[in-house]
Amino acid sequence: MTQEEPAVAPASAGSERLRTVLASKEARVAVVGLGFAGLPQAVVIAEAGFTVTGIDVDGERVAQLARGESYITDVTADQLHALRHTGHFHATTEAAALTEADCVVVCVPTGITAERRPVLDALERALGTIINTLRPPALVIIESSVPPGTTRRVARLLEARWRGNDGPGERVFVAHAPERIDPGNRQYGLRETPRVVGGETAAALDLARQFYAQCGVTTVPVASVEVAELTKVFENTFRFVNISLVNELAQIATAMNVSAWEVLEAASTKPYGFMPHEPGPGVGGSCIPVIPFFLADVAERLGTPSHLIAAAERVNTFMPQYVTDRAAALVGRRDGDLVGCHILVLGVTYKPDQSDCRHSPAVPVVERLIAAGATVRVHDPLVTEVAGLHPQASFAPLTAEVVAAADLVVVVTPHRSLDYGLVLSHARCILDTRNALRDRAAPNVVPL
Ligand SMILES: NC(=O)c1ccc[n+]([C@@H]2O[C@H](COP(=O)([O-])OP(=O)(O)OC[C@H]3O[C@@H](n4cnc5c(N)ncnc54)[C@H](O)[C@@H]3O)[C@@H](O)[C@H]2O)c1
Repeated sequence: MTQEEPAVAPASAGSERLRTVLASKEARVAVVGLGFAGLPQAVVIAEAGFTVTGIDVDGERVAQLARGESYITDVTADQLHALRHTGHFHATTEAAALTEADCVVVCVPTGITAERRPVLDALERALGTIINTLRPPALVIIESSVPPGTTRRVARLLEARWRGNDGPGERVFVAHAPERIDPGNRQYGLRETPRVVGGETAAALDLARQFYAQCGVTTVPVASVEVAELTKVFENTFRFVNISLVNELAQIATAMNVSAWEVLEAASTKPYGFMPHEPGPGVGGSCIPVIPFFLADVAERLGTPSHLIAAAERVNTFMPQYVTDRAAALVGRRDGDLVGCHILVLGVTYKPDQSDCRHSPAVPVVERLIAAGATVRVHDPLVTEVAGLHPQASFAPLTAEVVAAADLVVVVTPHRSLDYGLVLSHARCILDTRNALRDRAAPNVVPL
C-alpha cells in the first residue's frame, strides 16, 4: 500500500454535473448490498429525498422488501411502506439498475477465513458488476469495511476501465466512508454518528461530503482513503483489544474472589483516562471479531506484525471455555466435566435485542458445554435457529418446567424481552455472563 495525497482535481464537467444533481437531490442512488448496514443506509438516503435503488443478490430479501417487510430490526415496515408510497426506494436483484446511477454506495459483506485472512469476494463481484454496468460520471462510495489499501486498488480498477475515455464528464469518483452502524443503538443512529470520509481525489472527497450532508449526516474529512480505512479497522481493534483486557480481568478477579464488575464500576468513577468495557462470553457480530484481522493482515504484510491483536484473540476465544469451566465449578464438578448435567442457555444472538447471530459466542459456548458432557437446551425470544449451533443443542420454550429442569442456567445474551422474573423464580443457579441481573440481588445469580 502506498499512501498518496488526494490529487487536487480540476472541476470537470463530470464532477460539476454530480454536484448539481446532488444539490437538487435528483441524483439517482444505488445501494449495493441490503444487509444490516446497507438497508438502514438506503432508508436514510431515501428518507433524505433521493431516489434509491437497492441492489442485492439475495432474491428472498428483495422479495421481502417488495412486500414492505423488513428483515432488519432497525428498519420498520412503516418506514418501508412510506418510502414505497413516495417512490423513493425500491429493491431489485437486477444489476442493470446501476446504469442509471449517479452515486453508488457499496455495502456488501467482507469477512475473514478460518485462518483470519480477509475475504473480499463479494466486494470483487460487486466491483465487476459496477465495471460492466456503470455509466460515468458517477460517485462510488465504499462503505464496506475493507483492509487498508483496498479502496485505492478499487479506484485504480475503475479508472482503468474508463481510461482513454477520460474526457470531461467521464470520470468515476471513488471515496471510502466506512460504516460505523451500531445495530439497536437508539442514541447514535446513522444520522447521529459522524461519518469519516476519505477521497481518492479531492473532487471525490468533496462529492462524498456533499452527498452525506444532503442526507443529514455530518462528515469528518480525512487526508486519504487509507486514513479512512485505517480509522475504521482501528476503531474495531480498539474494542477487540479492550474487551480482551476486561475478559482477562474477569478471570483474575474471580481467582481472587473479587467482583470484576465492582472493579470496573470503581475504575469508571475516574473522570479522565478510563473507558469502561465489559467482560463476556466472547465477541460476536460482523465487525469486532473480524475487522481487527484486516489490520493484522496489513501489518504482517508491511513487516510490522501486531502482537496485541494475536494476544487479544487468544483471550477472547478462550472465553467460551472459561464459561464452561465456571459452569462446571458452579454445579460442583471439580474436574471440569459436565456429564449428566442439564444446562439452559439463554440468548444465542451476538448482542441483546438483535436477531443477528453472526459469530455469536453462544455457538462456541454451547459447543464447549456439550463437549464437557452437558445436555444443552437453548432459548432465544428472537431466533429459532442459529447457523453452526451444535446439532445436539435443542431449542426450548421458556417455561417454569424448562428452567427448573436445568442444573444451571447460563445467560449468554440478555435480551430485554426475556422473562427474568420467571428465570429467577425457578432456576437453581444462574451464571450471568453479562452481569445483566446485577440489580436483582438474587442469591441464585453468579456473575461471570
Ligand atoms: N452489521 C454491522 O453492524 C456493521 C457495522 C459496521 C460495518 N459493517 C460493514 O458493512 C458491510 C456489510 O455488512 P452487513 O452486516 O450489512 O452484511 P450483511 O451480510 O448483513 O449484508 C450484506 C448484503 O449484501 C448482499 N450481497 C452480497 N454480495 C453482493 C453483491 N455482489 N451484490 C449485491 N449484493 C450483495 C447480501 O445478499 C446481503 O444482503 C461489511 O463490510 C461490514 O463489515 C457492518
